[in-house]
Formats: sequence, C-alpha cells, structure tokens
Amino acid sequence: MTDVQSYSGPERILSGMQPTGGLHLGNYLGALVNWVKLQESGAECFYCVVDMHAITMPHDAKALPDAVRSAAAAYIASGVDPEKSAVFAQSAVTAHAELAWVFQCVARLGWLERMTQFKDKAGKDKERASVGLFTYPVLQAADILVYKATHVPVGEDQKQHLELARDIAARFMRDFDCEGFFPLPDAYIQGPGTRIMSLKDGSKKMSKSDPSDLSRINLSDDADTIARKIKKAKTDPEPLPGSLEEMSDRPEALNLVGIYAALEGSTKEKVISEFGGQGFGAFKPKLAELAVERLAPVAGEYARLIADPAEMDLILTKGAERARAVADPVMKQVKTKVGFWG
Ligand code: TRP
Repeated sequence: MTDVQSYSGPERILSGMQPTGGLHLGNYLGALVNWVKLQESGAECFYCVVDMHAITMPHDAKALPDAVRSAAAAYIASGVDPEKSAVFAQSAVTAHAELAWVFQCVARLGWLERMTQFKDKAGKDKERASVGLFTYPVLQAADILVYKATHVPVGEDQKQHLELARDIAARFMRDFDCEGFFPLPDAYIQGPGTRIMSLKDGSKKMSKSDPSDLSRINLSDDADTIARKIKKAKTDPEPLPGSLEEMSDRPEALNLVGIYAALEGSTKEKVISEFGGQGFGAFKPKLAELAVERLAPVAGEYARLIADPAEMDLILTKGAERARAVADPVMKQVKTKVGFWG
C-alpha cells in the first residue's frame, strides 16, 4: 500500500447525498453546513445528488427526478452556491459509471465483504440484495476519484467507505504503475453537529427512513411544526447538569444540547454552562426558538426553489457540464492506463 502521498494536484472537494425526497436537520448540521464552509475555502467543490446509489435499493422511478431536484434545492437553500460549486446529478456524468467498472476490477471481494453499511442495509437475507448494493462503495470511490477529490466531507458512518476509496486508489496506482495519479482522499469530519440523533431515540441517527416524522426535523417543516417536534422530543425528568461528563448516559438530553450547539455554532460545553441546572421545560422553548430562527430562511429558500423546477433543471444542467469538464479528461487518462479503446 502506498504510504507516501505523492499527489500534487489541486485541493478538490466532493460529496454527495442520496435523493431521499426531503432532507432533515441531520443532513443540514451533519453535512451541509460543512459543505458550505469548504466552499468558502476557495477549493473547487463538487456536490452531487447520488441517484445511481439510490437504485441499489427498491425505488420509485417516477419520483426519482423530483427527488433529485429536491435534494439539490436543499443543498442550495443551505448555502451551497451553484455559481461557486458544481451541483449536479451523478447519473448526468457518465464517467462515474465508467470509472466504477474499472474500480470493480481493482477492488477485491474481501475488501467489500468487510463493509458494515452493506450488512446493515442488506439485512438478514443478503442473497436477495442487489449486486449494486454490494458494490455501492466502489461507485462511491469512483464518485470521489473521477474528480481527483482530496477531501470528502461526510459523517462518521462513511469513514469505512473513504478508507476503501483510498485502498482502491492506491491499488490502481500500483497495478497500473502510476504513482501520484490519484490523491488518497481524506474524510473531512468536523463540527459539533457531526452526529444528530433521532428526537425519539438518542441511540439512533436522525433518518429519513424512520417511520415517525416526530423523530426528525425536516428542512421543509414550518415554524409551528419545528416547535411542536422539539416540545415532544424524548427527554428525561432530570434538569441539565453542570458538566458534560454528567450527561454521558443521557443520550436524548445530550442530543438536544448538541443540536443547540450546532445551530448556534458553539460547543456543547458552552451550552451546558449557559443552561446547566435548568429543566427541559425551560431549555426546549429556547432550542425551538433558535431552530426556527436558523431554519426558517433555509425552509423559505427551499420552498422557493422546489416551486421552480425549470430553474432547478437549469442549475443541474450547468452543474453537470462543469463536472464533466473535470471528470471526462480524468476518465480518458484512466482508459489509456488500463488499455481501453477511445
Ligand atoms: N454513501 C454516502 C452516504 O450514504 C453517499 C455518497 C455516495 C457519497 N457517493 C459519495 C458521499 C461520494 C461522499 C462522497 O451518505
């Protein structure tokens, strides 16, 4: 395995989310806030909606294009600027699929068998899972490396997939004798809000697939809904303690403190020092107020964008052109390296 990072290309950022038909506070605080921060760093940014990954599980083909528009609208409403960053659908840039095939022949079966997300998603009957679900992380590696991305803002749960992308890049360079051709991409995991949990169960991640809508705050929720969900969020009867250590076995309380800190752009310690000793009857209304204040403009912009599919399509078309301008030449070089035609 290559240890030396001999890559000398520019810093590039790539990330993506599945078009789940509506993003929530976990996506916003856990990911999008970081995407926006990185966009301001001056590095070239590629933010795609991974609709090819979406078909690894049963999906509604008719609803998929709108789900892509909706996810892209949520990126932009959260502050991703399509003039600065390329915002596009993964399926619109065919180089992702082409590189994924090459990488399927580079990655080893044993590497994929270790992926925990496959085990979680496939469930008990993995014989019935699609082959695409199994090779999902290989496509993800192609998403990243087709832009020679150096940094990938993702949540903790994606660390293993990032390690796989590094292994694939290193093995490709060894097999085809081209040290330095790909960067070894780093996961960029930062911020107090990295892991936002369900409002109903502090041990589960906030998720679109949770059957209870009360478990999450959607970016499309209005002010009353946000306040009601926070009021109903699971807690315990104890007041907030004076220090974080005293909260380690109170996941729901810790989650609400974490959400407050992330919304405010401060730290859990600071929130505890402000609210320590107070009960949730006092803390929750303050949290609701802050959440509404931070999310209302995002929700407003999101509503405006999804009401204008033609504008979204224009943004996505331009984004895909920008993405192709980088991905196609990389793919051309890859084809030469592996001995393909054209
Ligand atoms: N697997 C990622 C997730 O579940 C989504 C994803 C697909 C992705 N391709 C990517 C994330 C490339 C970062 C980079 O969240």
